[in-house]
Formats: sequence, C-alpha cells, structure tokens
Amino acid sequence: MGPKISGKGQQSHRMVILAAIFVLMTLLILYGSNNVTDDVYAPFHVATNHALMTTDLKKWAGREGYVPVSGNKNMSLHCHDCALVTSSSHVLGTGAGEEIDRSECVIRMNDAPTMGFESDVGNHTTLRVVAHSSVFRVVRRPNEFLQRTDSNPVIIFWGPPNKIGKEAKGTLYRLIQRVSTTYSNLSCFSVTPSKMRRFDNLFHRETGRDRSKSHSWLSTGWFTMVIAIEMCDNIKVYGMVPPNYCLKKPGSKKMPYHYYKPRGPDECLTYLQNESGRRGNHHRFITEKQVFARWAKQYNITFTHPKW
Ligand SMILES: *[C@@H]1O[C@H](CO)[C@@H](O)[C@H](O)[C@H]1NC(C)=O
Ligand SMILES: *[C@@H]1O[C@H](CO)[C@@H](O)[C@H](O)[C@H]1NC(C)=O
Ligand SMILES: *[C@@H]1O[C@H](CO)[C@@H](O)[C@H](O)[C@H]1NC(C)=O
Ligand SMILES: *[C@@H]1O[C@H](CO)[C@@H](O)[C@H](O)[C@H]1NC(C)=O
Ligand SMILES: *[C@@H]1O[C@H](CO)[C@@H](O)[C@H](O)[C@H]1NC(C)=O
Repeated sequence: MGPKISGKGQQSHRMVILAAIFVLMTLLILYGSNNVTDDVYAPFHVATNHALMTTDLKKWAGREGYVPVSGNKNMSLHCHDCALVTSSSHVLGTGAGEEIDRSECVIRMNDAPTMGFESDVGNHTTLRVVAHSSVFRVVRRPNEFLQRTDSNPVIIFWGPPNKIGKEAKGTLYRLIQRVSTTYSNLSCFSVTPSKMRRFDNLFHRETGRDRSKSHSWLSTGWFTMVIAIEMCDNIKVYGMVPPNYCLKKPGSKKMPYHYYKPRGPDECLTYLQNESGRRGNHHRFITEKQVFARWAKQYNITFTHPKW
C-alpha cells in the first residue's frame, strides 16, 4: 500500500487545514487588535513586577558624569529644596512664581523663559538642563538665558557625544565652549559619553526596554529628573501631569505642550503620539512618568499643578 490518500481523505484533510487557517487568522486578528488598543493605551507599559532592577540614584550619582565645558569647575551642586519647573502649560495661571523663587534651587529645562511668565514660573534659575537640540535657541537669547544675575547659575548640556562631546569638536561643541568662556558667571557642564550610556542603561533597567532597540529617545525631562534626584534632598515638581492623565481624559481640553508656545501642539496629543510611535525615534513621555511615579515613592518628590 502506497501513501495514497483517497478522494474523501484528501477532502477532509483540506477541511482540517482550512479550519486551522481560520483559527489562526482569528487568533491573529484578536491578538492584533489587542495590540492596537495597547498602542493607544499602554503601548510601552512598564512592567510592575520585580524583575526590573531598581537603581539607588543617590549612589548612582557621581560628579565624574559632568565635565566642565571650559576651565576646571566641579559639578558640586547640592540643594536641600528644589523646585523643578516643567515647560508644560499646566504652570500657567498657577501664580506659583513666588513660591518657586523661595526654593533654595530652581531647575528649568531647555529654553523655557521666565521673562513675561514670572508670576507663574518665578524668575530665579539655579540650573538649566539643555538638550543638544535646544542649544541654538538658548544662545539666541543671551539676556534671557546667559547674562543672569543669579549667583553662579549652572547649565548642563546633554546630547550624543558626537554632537556635544569634547572629541566631537563640531559646531555645537564650539558654540557651547564660546558660551562658557564668554559668560564667566555661568558654569557650563556637559554630560560625559559614559554618563550618557548610564542614562540609557538606567532607562533599560527601569522600564525593561532597551532604549535604542525600542526606538526611543530620552527626553530632557528624563535627564532633568535624574539630575534633580542626584542633587536635591526634596523636589517639588511644577506642571507635570501623572502618567495616566492623558489616557483617562481623551477628550479633555487642549493644553499647549509648552507654556511659552500657546499656539504649539497639544500636550496630550504629543505624549500619546510619541508613546505609540514605532517607526523612527520617539520620546516615551508616559513611560518616563511611570518611572517618575515610582521614584516619587523612593525619593522625596512631590507634584503640584496638578497635584498627585
Ligand atoms: C574639583 O575636584 C577635585 C577632586 O575632586 C579637586 O582636586 C579640585 O580642587 C576641585 N576643583 C574645584 C575648582 O573645586
Ligand atoms: C522677580 O524679580 C524681582 C526683582 O528682580 C522681584 O521683585 C520679584 O518679586 C521676583 N519674583 C516674581 C515672582 O516676579
Ligand atoms: C556676575 O556676577 C556678579 C556678582 O555675582 C555681578 O555683579 C555681575 O553683574 C555678573 N555679571 C553678569 C555678566 O551677569
Ligand atoms: C520631603 O519634602 C517635603 C517638602 O519638600 C519636606 O517637608 C519633608 O521634610 C521632606 N522629607 C524628608 C524625609 O526629607
Ligand atoms: C514627539 O514629541 C516631540 C516633542 O519633544 C514633538 O516635536 C513631536 O512632534 C512628537 N511626535 C509625535 C509623533 O507626536
């Protein structure tokens, strides 16, 4: 008897294959649509199990991570109370300016201005954390950002080593260097290449995701929060929404992403679109905030406007 299948057997064989394909397709569709909702609601969900390693950021900190752009200053900022002022339009109308200015140290990001917004964001700046992509915008307005009368304000520049590193010797690095030598009251530092790698590793450990393999870019908010934890005993964050804020209120009213760009993009839209972005590199604003929420329990961090 050869391996000959009768007509009837062949037909039922075909039926089985068709049924299997049908079941597979159904599963794929179900799984696929699950993924789609995931993409919208929690695409980059941080695992809450203990497989994630937690890092003691106080021990993780180190001065060697920041090198002076010129001269031989040390990054030795330490403050008991810090106000971390976000760039979100949630700060508008809060009247928090005076309270912010009463903090021992005030931390700001990129080119977020104080002029014209003093009553809500205050007018002191102790530290400004500036992304490589914001350097030009900061340098373009020296009397707002560089000629400060605050005693010895600090600027920390972060970016890929091939852009802001000493070895790069590119336009951006030369510009930062010129700023640092021109404005002697400023202390300018850049994040070292090894510290940049540590920021990536930290993201991996805290989210379970490899930054570059998951096509993610760290935000200035990520760098700023970590640096604040390194240097402050207590941190009060102004204008940062909780991680699930944009998921819970899909139809909530439009809030500009930046307080100084009233006609700019909507904050929640920017967060949600970045969070679910797969092609190209994206900021994981919501994932980062999930980590911040965990850090808030571990370190002394409180959030106001909105309070959470
Ligand atoms: C910076 O720190 C090093 C060692 O930690 C020290 O030798 C040096 O004097 C410090 N420089 C300044 C300007 O404080
Ligand atoms: C800003 O600075 C001026 C003095 O330079 C001060 O009078 C004012 O109270 C400060 N704070 C705010 C919130 O405007
Ligand atoms: C630098 O700081 C001193 C006092 O700390 C101040 O008198 C001077 O005006 C400042 N210079 C600039 C350019 O802001
Ligand atoms: C935590 O921060 C708050 C407000 O900044 C402060 O009142 C409190 O004493 C801090 N707690 C500790 C343990 O440092
Ligand atoms: C992601 O966020 C940045 C702001 O950091 C924004 O410029 C960009 O448009 C956002 N991307 C998407 C797809 O929303």
